[in-house]
Amino acid sequence: MTSATPRRWPDLTVGIIGGGQLGRMLALEARRMGVHTCVLDPDQRCSAGQVADEHLVASFSDREAAREFAGRTDVVTYEFEHIDASLVAEVEALRPVHPSSSLLKMVQHRVRQKQGLQDLGIPLAAFRPVDTWQDMEQAVHTLGLPAVLKTATSGYDGKGQAVLHRAADAESSFQALRGRSEMLVLEEFVQLEKELSVVCARDVHGKMACYPAVENIHVNGILDLTLAPARVSPALAAAAQELAGSIAQKLGVVGLLCVEMFLAKDGRLLVNELAPRPHNSGHHTLDACPTSQFEQLLRILCRLPLGVTELTTPAVMANLLGDLWVSADGGLDFAAALAVPGVKLHLYNKHGVYPGRKMGHLCAVAPTLETALSRALAARAALTGPKSLGSGDSGYTDTPVRTAAERTEHRS
Ligand SMILES: Nc1ncnc2c1ncn2[C@@H]1O[C@H](COP(=O)(O)OP(=O)(O)O)[C@@H](O)[C@H]1O
Ligand SMILES: [Mg+2]
Repeated sequence: MTSATPRRWPDLTVGIIGGGQLGRMLALEARRMGVHTCVLDPDQRCSAGQVADEHLVASFSDREAAREFAGRTDVVTYEFEHIDASLVAEVEALRPVHPSSSLLKMVQHRVRQKQGLQDLGIPLAAFRPVDTWQDMEQAVHTLGLPAVLKTATSGYDGKGQAVLHRAADAESSFQALRGRSEMLVLEEFVQLEKELSVVCARDVHGKMACYPAVENIHVNGILDLTLAPARVSPALAAAAQELAGSIAQKLGVVGLLCVEMFLAKDGRLLVNELAPRPHNSGHHTLDACPTSQFEQLLRILCRLPLGVTELTTPAVMANLLGDLWVSADGGLDFAAALAVPGVKLHLYNKHGVYPGRKMGHLCAVAPTLETALSRALAARAALTGPKSLGSGDSGYTDTPVRTAAERTEHRS
């Protein structure tokens, strides 16, 4: 593995930092294509470790392990952002890492990310960095209320955020979040028409392929449903794709970049945040595109041509959170869910269930998006029994942001 001559497809080992579901689906696609994978994750039983060829069980702060990991691989990627970018840089000194550690460093800090995007002229919701209470008062004064306070680091699935409705919320939110992050950011609360995202792929030669814009419906800050394609005009879908592509281009990304966007009720298309990796809103690409986002990343890592990113069918992805397991006391009716036509089940085989944890997803395809949506909702409702059938289509339009209990886990 450490030989000087770069090895060629498929005689390669792709290193994946992180052993969650994204790493698992990447490793599954690698298995299909005959490429080896090596996962770095401290959890012996992690989701990706179960399907990778090798699993180096070590802490993400273990520098020696990081060097050993580099030695076992030919090219490296990461599947979550909350890792020390300097450790990734150490791996990068030994092996190509895509996307780069410098991009990771920028993206993993909300303030750096927003300032970087602002410098590129990308439209964003108004924001102010918040370090001290004085900054907070000033930011509330400038942006007005409602507003959203977010930690600069370590946030995911709506965690580390609070919505400020009244002036009195400012102090309590500041107190609650300030200790958890090096810095905070206050954002304008955007009145959302819809949320959209685009996964862009860019290879080492600068060639790009973007997936069609999808529509995301969040519940309590966590992605609940992805509708592909997004229910927007062709012009808006093209604008979203173009905006995302321009960011991937300007940042010189090699790998995948998911661009989450807000379509505001006043018509503005704003960038919410970036993720330099496969994304939950791209899971449908496994079942509804000739090339999944995971295969696309492998192609980039292994210097193969980019694959086709078109949708071959309308599709709806429904996340399966730990709440389902908890409410059904583990007795989920998978047979009933799979009796719904056009439905594919993806389970991540995670050890340990808790509310809000992403345990799997369903993807429903159909000739129309409307049918795909009703199939996905029916299949998910069927998991917990006939009593919940038909109740699945309420509550998907409101997307409150709340401060959720912080988990000690580094990701969902
Ligand atoms: N400024 C905002 N205005 C309105 N809704 C927001 C705002 N920021 C976040 N949200 C809602 O919370 C969700 C999660 O926030 P996001 O910033 O994407 O954090 P995370 O890293 O947890 O995904 C968003 O997808 C959106 O539904
Ligand atoms: Mg987000």
